[in-house]
Amino acid sequence: MKKNIKLKVSIVMGSQSDYKIMKQAEKTLRKIRVPFETKIISAHRTPQRMYKYAAKVVQNHIGVIIAGAGGSAHLPGMISALTHVPVLGVPVESKKLKGLDSLLSIVQMPKGIPVGTLAIGEDGAINAALLAAAIIGNNNPNVRKKLKNFRSSQTRSVKRTPK
Ligand code: RP5
Repeated sequence: MKKNIKLKVSIVMGSQSDYKIMKQAEKTLRKIRVPFETKIISAHRTPQRMYKYAAKVVQNHIGVIIAGAGGSAHLPGMISALTHVPVLGVPVESKKLKGLDSLLSIVQMPKGIPVGTLAIGEDGAINAALLAAAIIGNNNPNVRKKLKNFRSSQTRSVKRTPK
């Protein structure tokens, strides 16, 4: 693995329908100027694509993977099983169970193969991006500085009194 300065974040999702949520991760990474790529990879509908992707994670200078999926959301766990790069899972809201199925599928990984699990939906996608930036920022002073600025401006945006 090369120095973290060149590492990017990889956002993957199980379906086009997840993009309305996962684009919040892109938006957040753009704000902090963290380089990223975005792909659709389904663990059950495109398993070969998933294997090929996982095999090239290190070669492609990916430092953190954000994986969003809904329903029986095995994508984050499967990718974590195939790589040594940290995987952050975003449970996408499902039609029938409102994302509780996604959350439990991602968070309840059996020991040995971890997936850092965020909140269901947009909050999870945004926080996954912030956490990914913090991980990349450990070895990338530019990203660390941008993240610090983002946090300061967020703090300043909270008014002391309501209007
Ligand atoms: C999962 O099934 C995807 O991550 C998505 O959240 C869910 C529904 O997929 P579509 O039927 O919308 O393609 O694999």
